[in-house]
Amino acid sequence: MFPSLALGFLVAGITAVAAASSSSCVGKISSLDTLAVLSNARRSILIAFTALVEKQFELQLLDGTTVNVLGEIQFGNLSWAGPLFRVIGNDVTFNGNNQRWDGGGPFYWDGQGAGITTPHPMMQISISGTLNNVYVVNSPSSAFAITNPGPLTISGATVDDLQGNYPNSRSGNATAAHNTDGFDVSGSDILIQHLHLRGFSTVLNQDDCLAINSGTNITFADNYCEYGHGISIGSISSNAVVSDIKIIGNHVVSSAFSFRIKTDASATNSIVKNVTYSDNTATNCTGFGVLITQVRVISVCFLSVLRGRGFHGLSQDINFNHGTTSVTANRGAYRVAVNCGSGSCTGDWDWSGLQTSGGKAGSIVNNNLIAGFVDTR
Ligand SMILES: *[C@@H]1O[C@H](CO)[C@@H](O)[C@H](O)[C@H]1NC(C)=O
Ligand SMILES: *[C@@H]1O[C@H](CO)[C@@H](O)[C@H](O)[C@H]1NC(C)=O
Ligand SMILES: *[C@@H]1O[C@H](CO)[C@@H](O)[C@H](O)[C@H]1NC(C)=O
Ligand SMILES: *[C@@H]1O[C@H](CO)[C@@H](O)[C@H](O)[C@H]1NC(C)=O
Ligand SMILES: *[C@@H]1O[C@H](CO)[C@@H](O)[C@H](O)[C@H]1NC(C)=O
Repeated sequence: MFPSLALGFLVAGITAVAAASSSSCVGKISSLDTLAVLSNARRSILIAFTALVEKQFELQLLDGTTVNVLGEIQFGNLSWAGPLFRVIGNDVTFNGNNQRWDGGGPFYWDGQGAGITTPHPMMQISISGTLNNVYVVNSPSSAFAITNPGPLTISGATVDDLQGNYPNSRSGNATAAHNTDGFDVSGSDILIQHLHLRGFSTVLNQDDCLAINSGTNITFADNYCEYGHGISIGSISSNAVVSDIKIIGNHVVSSAFSFRIKTDASATNSIVKNVTYSDNTATNCTGFGVLITQVRVISVCFLSVLRGRGFHGLSQDINFNHGTTSVTANRGAYRVAVNCGSGSCTGDWDWSGLQTSGGKAGSIVNNNLIAGFVDTR
């Protein structure tokens, strides 16, 4: 075990560039001062300190580097755009070892996200390879943004923003945190599994557990999402493609939405296709979301496919099959609502694996493709 240094360092921002050598020896960062060692390039890096990083912590890694985090990281309370942490590299193995990364959320949270410039995202992941057991608490805004240069597997991450669920001195009676998405994904060939995310559930806030904004071949498996906006595809803006998505074996608990696909009303030339939901469970879906398009306002518990005037994209082959997905809606919440533009939902919609209970029925508009689904209370 490596000694941890006491909290108390304050550094204006750290960039460690590992670029020059092919050495395979281990670089151990035992204090912020020794981060400079990284400039000599190491393929194995131990971050062995407990640190307070004032501004940005960036790791630019050699191909094939392994990083092990052995101390807790805390960020200074500064109003700036972020991200607080960025890691860049190919074929990286990043082991967070469940050491806490504390984003200092309470400093920024004011119930509206409008007060001061807030770092966003907290963790910018721009690697291929694997990212394991990274533990984030109190993200100022969204926790992870994924923009990977090649295949990436993310396992066992935790995002705990539960504290943001309560009011603080600046939020009046409102939930303090705002915009604390768990994972924002814009990339392809991604497997995200065994996450544990606890957000909060105020409808005014945008806090998806997972939000896929673009990309192909993305699997979200065996994750746990509590108090938030559930698993979301979108918002999809213009010229975006989301395809070949699998949502498997997830638990969505006490969330405003569970599974959602949403497009911007003004989006053109976009498509969401080949999305498969299997073996998921959603319980205590509170479904108080009011989503506004230029066409109509709907409330959604389970799934919405929204189309605004001017939307020229498509939703194609959205399936609930290959295993039962069950949804239990709270009293007053809608079970299922689908709202397609005229002709903008196409393909096969096999919903034979979807079981619903509780709540009330939503409307299904411009979609007679859905097969095998019986909406039961
Ligand atoms: C940042 O602010 C929060 C809440 O205002 C406080 O709990 C925390 O100790 C502060 N962190 C630092 C590093 O000063
Ligand atoms: C908070 O809620 C209480 C009780 O509903 C109310 O009396 C008070 O005015 C509210 N405060 C703010 C700042 O909205
Ligand atoms: C899909 O993504 C996974 C996870 O990164 C990867 O292992 C797999 O090779 C990809 N499939 C294709 C066809 O590229
Ligand atoms: C749909 O996506 C899955 C991966 O999720 C892929 O294996 C399959 O080939 C895709 N189907 C089509 C028709 O592209
Ligand atoms: C249902 O979810 C709401 C909102 O997240 C939460 O306040 C409530 O405690 C949950 N109820 C149960 C029984 O879990």
